[in-house]
Parts: sequence; C-alpha cells; structure tokens
Amino acid sequence: MTVREPLRPVLYDDGRDLVRLLDQKALPAEERWLELSTADAVAAAIKDLTVRGAPAIGVAAAYGLAVEARRGAGPERLRAAADLLARARPTAVNLAWAVRRMSARIGAPAADVLAEAHAIRDEDEAACRRIGALGAPLVPRSARVLTHCNAGALATAGYGTALGVVRAAVESGNAISVFADETRPFLQGARLTAWELHRDGIPVTVLTDGMAGWLMARGEIGCVVVGADRIAANGDVANKIGTYALAVLAAHHRLPFYVAAPWSTVDLATPTGADIPIEERGADEVVVLAGQRIAPAGVPARYPAFDVTPAALVTAIVTERGVVRAPHAAGLAALATAR
Ligand code: MRU
Repeated sequence: MTVREPLRPVLYDDGRDLVRLLDQKALPAEERWLELSTADAVAAAIKDLTVRGAPAIGVAAAYGLAVEARRGAGPERLRAAADLLARARPTAVNLAWAVRRMSARIGAPAADVLAEAHAIRDEDEAACRRIGALGAPLVPRSARVLTHCNAGALATAGYGTALGVVRAAVESGNAISVFADETRPFLQGARLTAWELHRDGIPVTVLTDGMAGWLMARGEIGCVVVGADRIAANGDVANKIGTYALAVLAAHHRLPFYVAAPWSTVDLATPTGADIPIEERGADEVVVLAGQRIAPAGVPARYPAFDVTPAALVTAIVTERGVVRAPHAAGLAALATAR
C-alpha cells in the first residue's frame, strides 16, 4: 500500500492566522486549499459543503471563532459569530457541540481560544484512531464492506470514523475492500470516499445507491459501516439520506450494520430520532447534476439531507469510549460517565 501524508482537511495557519480548508466541492478533480480569515467565510463554507462531515464542520467552526479572536474580535462579535456558525447546519450535533465548547472561552486571551480549537481538532483525530482500533475486529476477514456518503478523513479532523474502521482493519492485515455508495444527490461517496481510499491504496468500488440490495442478495457484501451526524439517547442514528434504507436492507439480509462516530456525535439531550432536526436543502442540488439539469424545468424535488435509522436496526455503535450494542440506551448512558 502506498504510504501517503495523513489527510487532514481542516487546518489552522498559526503564523498567518488563517483557517485552511481543503475544498471538498472541487474534489476529486482538483486538490484546492482555501484560506479564510473570518467566521462568516467559514460559516458560508460549512453551508455550501466546501467543508462537510459532522466532526469536520465542528473543527472548522472552532477555527472560525479562533481566527476572529486572534484578529482582535471582542466578546460581542465572537458571540454573534458563534451564533452564525452554530446555525450553519442543523443536523450534525458536533457543530453545536464545538461552538458551545469554544463559546466557554469567549473573554479568554486569543491564544487560549486558539488552543481550544487545536484541542478539538487533535482530540477528534485521536478519537477516530481509537474508533478504528475498536471497530476493526468487528469487520469480517476479507469482507467487502459497504459504506455510504463520506465518513472518512475528509469528514473529520483526520483518519475518519467509518473509514477509520476500514483503515484500522487494513492496517491490521485484513484484506478488505470497500463498496462506496455514490450517495445522491451530492455524490460524497463517488467523489470523496472513492478519492480518499484510492489515494491510500485501499480497494474501492463505486455503486449507485440503488445497487446495495441486489449485491447483498448475491452475498457480495459482508457488513455495512457508516458514520453519523447525531445519535439520540435511545441509539437512533441520523446520517446521510439513504442510510436508513441500507439498514433495512442489512437487517433483511442478516448483515451486521455498524455505526462509527466520536462521542461528540452522541446527543443525550435528544431523546429519540424523532427529535433530531433534519436539514432540508435546496431542490437544485437534486435536479442539477454536475452543472446539468436532469429533470424537466418546473418539476419540484425534495432534498431531506439526512434520515434516521432506528436503534433496533443498528448492530453496534462504535465510539472512542467503547462499543455499544442493544439495549443501546443503557449502553450509551453507561459510556456517558466513562472516559
Ligand atoms: O452532508 P454531509 O456530507 O455533511 O453528510 C455527512 C454524513 O452524513 C457523514 O456520514 C457524517 O457526517 C459522518 S462524518 C464522520
């Protein structure tokens, strides 16, 4: 396997006080880094999916506040920036979590605000590596693993959650390969998951979203591993639209369905999946593909960006604090006090 520099999509240039984002809208055609100097620009990048993935948008928001503090913003401006960033996307709880954690530093010296953002970044990558170590033994030997959207290094501070499990399994000598759902409408699977696994020399094959059931029926898939944007106290999981359908298919075919996520994705204040806000995005992201309109003008489209998979369909949730199986609510509650 080719050894490459670890992929870290959200960085901070301490010398020039700039937030550096790998532009995920430009991948895989171009590896373009953006340099942002305001929280407003970071919020816009979160909204338009230049940076995306639950943990990654939390890290980006943290740096968005740090850059403001380092450039002299006072508490009032920082509070307004925190509010703007927290509202950029509603479903991934990591965003609100990171902004809350950063907001507790408003009023502290700018160096401390930046140190907190660096801590959020470093802790997330460490969590992903631990998730990988705990999740890898769950993956059957030489299996073909199905994943959805991108829960990889690009969606986190580095290493990835679902793809962290894949990376750790490969590093432990398990010759697995990956099926990546293309993940309509924004194609995070075809563009991003395929790009980062191919970059690291991990075998990956792209599927359209409708192919999973047939490949499961043919025995071509060994397990499903996905990420999460929010996990409710009862173990219900919000993740990219299409995840719920995969969970139903996996249950029908008696395949393990694993969710890998850092503890910052677990929201014990949200009792069930029904309480998770689901982001609705613009219809153009559904009916316009690669700049080309693919449905007749005047025909509406729907775009709920996430769905909720009931805990009953989740074989296990892998966090850096431990692996939770049914009853999920009790397992999550037990890990809440663990460190
Ligand atoms: O809309 P996106 O691309 O931000 O959605 C991302 C996902 O659904 C990921 O699976 C999730 O954030 C987990 S990231 C480790």
